[in-house]
Amino acid sequence: MAKQFSQERLRVRPSSREEAVVNAAREHFERTLISSRGELVGSMAALSHPGGKDQALNYDEVFLRDNVPVMLLLLVQGRFQIVRNFLETCLELQSSAYQTRGVFPTSFVEQNGVLVADYGQRSIGRITSVDASLWWPVLCWLYVRRSRDWDFGASQRVQRGVQLLLDLVLHPTFEGTPVLFVPDCAFMIDRPMDVWGAPLEIEVLLYGCLGSCCQLMALAQKSHNSRLLEQRLVLTREWKHDLRRYLLKHYWVTSKTMQVLRRRPTEQYGDTQMLNEFNVQPQVIPPWLQDWLENRGGYLIGNMRTGRPDFRFYSLGNCLACLFELITAPQQRALFRLVLHNREHLMAQMPMRICHPPLEGQQWSEKTGSDPKNWPWSYHNGGHWPSLLWYLGGAVLLHEQRYPQADVLLMGQMRAMLEECYWMQLNQLPRQQWAEYFDGPTGTWVGQQARTYQTWTIVGFLLLHHLLRVNPSDAGLLDINRD
Ligand code: GLC
Repeated sequence: MAKQFSQERLRVRPSSREEAVVNAAREHFERTLISSRGELVGSMAALSHPGGKDQALNYDEVFLRDNVPVMLLLLVQGRFQIVRNFLETCLELQSSAYQTRGVFPTSFVEQNGVLVADYGQRSIGRITSVDASLWWPVLCWLYVRRSRDWDFGASQRVQRGVQLLLDLVLHPTFEGTPVLFVPDCAFMIDRPMDVWGAPLEIEVLLYGCLGSCCQLMALAQKSHNSRLLEQRLVLTREWKHDLRRYLLKHYWVTSKTMQVLRRRPTEQYGDTQMLNEFNVQPQVIPPWLQDWLENRGGYLIGNMRTGRPDFRFYSLGNCLACLFELITAPQQRALFRLVLHNREHLMAQMPMRICHPPLEGQQWSEKTGSDPKNWPWSYHNGGHWPSLLWYLGGAVLLHEQRYPQADVLLMGQMRAMLEECYWMQLNQLPRQQWAEYFDGPTGTWVGQQARTYQTWTIVGFLLLHHLLRVNPSDAGLLDINRD
């Protein structure tokens, strides 16, 4: 018992090696940057791929989602040109094919002087990433505001890209709801995990995307007033507003709302009875939810589908909901309480878990197609991804910035937890060669098939270091709603 305790303390203890670890991480990061046509355009997904060349797969490509923290780090470092090169390269690769017009690639790479993009036609399982397209306007807006490159934001190229993308979203659908309907595997979780329909991460990203598109369109509107653009702005703002209302109504749960939900009538037909629109039977509410929510916790559930809500907790979608202010300030604090209460699960020995709880047994074999990578407690299925921690860190610091007076006690606890998580990463990641993910209920073991020197592990750590040590006010960079 005593031994176990001292081991755990070791992981969370401040270390005198802080400076050396940070410097080494910075050097690794520089090596991840790659150029195309003579200019740096972004980072490859991982520096080394154990298993030999055959198994290297596509980790030497520039993934849009993996480059989110990369671009933010470059922005706080003032290296604007690389970010602009990245944005322009993505724009150049935005699909113009009839059936996918407007889609941004999942990843790209230069081969023999030619840019090759993957829209899903080359990936395992031939998957289309929807999140990449939704991230682009967010990154573009954050770049424009930070670098004050207003001309680029208002330029025809950018405005055209935004309109093409909006065409994909703002059109009539069979469902007539403001959510985007996507297949399984359409985001960071890009292997089957039963996350088809309206998964949280996609819907929250859509919210951030619409907000950023509005900011970019408003720039163009200022320089040349156009009626068409004005109409588009109004429509996009309304969509964003409806989306938020929809998500708050159907995804947000607390102990209080659960008690109401459990006692709702079922099988309701017609326009007047609207208490249980998705006809959810009380039996589908999982028992673990009771302790998970405790008294004052709350979170956005993973998905809402007729009869089958997904109650799993997804870290990224919830953190992004704070950053984009999709959830209100009291809701953000309820989420922080939930994280503290479930720290043993969500942070454990390697912050933080991607999704909770994992699919096990029969469910695992049916829903993942017996995917050996998504084995229970591994990879996307309950694995721990160090690259996710900075999103939570950003959400906490941004909350403090926006509401400095609110619940000082809670925020103090969150700060303390973040500090400990930071030390856990600092003490473990260099030894574990900056692995991609960690396995098991405590996240102690390095992921069974994890790449090493994974870029977003390294950069996520550097971003958190920047926000905690170098310049906490840079959390404001993440606020897409500021003009
Ligand atoms: C895996 C991950 C995906 C990531 C990619 C590159 O496919 O599931 O989220 O973008 O690796 O790191």
